[in-house]
Amino acid sequence: MLLVNLWAIQNDPKIWDDSRKFKPERFEGLEATRDGFKLMPFGSGRRGCPGEGLAVRMVGLGLGSVIQCFDWERVGKELVDMAEGTGLTMPKAQPLIAKCTPRPVGAKLFSV
Ligand code: HEM
Repeated sequence: MLLVNLWAIQNDPKIWDDSRKFKPERFEGLEATRDGFKLMPFGSGRRGCPGEGLAVRMVGLGLGSVIQCFDWERVGKELVDMAEGTGLTMPKAQPLIAKCTPRPVGAKLFSV
């Protein structure tokens, strides 16, 4: 069994400027094979994720919908704890708990 350390590749300061800084725009327009395998959220090669095409299209749509259709708030005054937990899929150390309130635009979109 081969486990590739993607975390190390995607946080490598030799490849990325400010590699530990949250800068999602750094990934815009990147593709794994074309861009030297710097970014591989879906793995690569014959056992790479067959759902990549669907996921790339649907994640933005789903995320955009929950942002557009709900107002989001923290439950308390503290900022969201972004600490990393342990595990192969890098879970959050503390689960995210947030409060959402439907916005009128959502009611219009989802009512029949
Ligand atoms: C953001 C969404 C997703 C991410 C980040 C993701 C990521 C991954 C990764 C990293 C792998 C392992 C690839 C490897 O071993 O090199 C994988 C495998 C797989 N994914 Fe996804 N995936 C996503 C969505 C989906 C969707 C939507 C489907 C199906 C509709 C899917 C179906 C599969 C299957 C069947 C495998 C196993 C492939 C194999 O072992 O041959 N994934 N995915």
